[in-house]
Amino acid sequence: MKQILSALILLLVPVLATAAGGGGNLDSMEPDLSDKASLQRGAKIFTNNCMGCHSAKYARYRLVAEDIGIPQELYEENLIFTDSRYGELMEIAMPGEEAEQWFGVAPPDLTLTARVNGPDWLYSYLRGFYKDESRPLGVNNVVFDNVGMPHVMVNKGGLCAEKPHIGAEESVDPATGETLNDGVCDDWAIEGSMEPEEFDQAMYDLTNFLVYLGEPALMDRKRIGVYVLIFIGIFFIFAYLLNREYWKDIH
Ligand code: HEC
Repeated sequence: MKQILSALILLLVPVLATAAGGGGNLDSMEPDLSDKASLQRGAKIFTNNCMGCHSAKYARYRLVAEDIGIPQELYEENLIFTDSRYGELMEIAMPGEEAEQWFGVAPPDLTLTARVNGPDWLYSYLRGFYKDESRPLGVNNVVFDNVGMPHVMVNKGGLCAEKPHIGAEESVDPATGETLNDGVCDDWAIEGSMEPEEFDQAMYDLTNFLVYLGEPALMDRKRIGVYVLIFIGIFFIFAYLLNREYWKDIH
């Protein structure tokens, strides 16, 4: 009995460990790969703002365009800026060594970043930049300390003068009745052209797209799942009839 008990307790350990981890201080986001409009907006933001420095060299333009539902002509005109062709991999022209000299570290390929870092981390990272004069680029990031990447979305999202409230629930201060952590940032050093909620939505779309990019098969999985269930349903009828046939004379 004692052994069974200790085995049960041991079984619980990983559950307790993840409960304590609890996602840490991140804002959570629920990817939705069936939302094509979101993926299309994300692809646009990614191409316009990120592919200057980051490649996605395990993905192909053509497959991305087909998956997220952008016609070839539109895609070629608006979302391919290099001399790459439609069927090619999403590589970029920036040479890694020079990039390393400019930024101190070469911008990594982003095809798998959502799988490596997780959607919550990415969503928080993209909204986590703040002003920090002690850093060479004048910015830091709440979830990536001493980050070497500039805050490329500053025109749209603005720059927070202090650490933004990432992973902090909105609450009311019992002493003063003031709302704490209301919105991402209390004090902007630079105002962005978008409203904070609008920028959150844009970064949601971008993260959603990066989740798709990291695992395009996720998109098919649900569709295939439905066919599998239909197949099992039909198969069950025949299995049932066959079973009845076998037992007919015995009962
Ligand atoms: C001007 C060049 C530049 C642009 C544009 C840029 N980045 Fe970066 N990015 C970098 C550099 C450099 C790093 C490495 C930072 C470090 O390791 O300190 C980086 C790191 C990252 C990381 C961390 C990856 C990891 O696992 O370490 C992510 C995620 C990322 N960038 C996403 C983006 C997204 C999304 C965009 C578009 C909105 C973007 N970047 C635009 C230069 C850039």
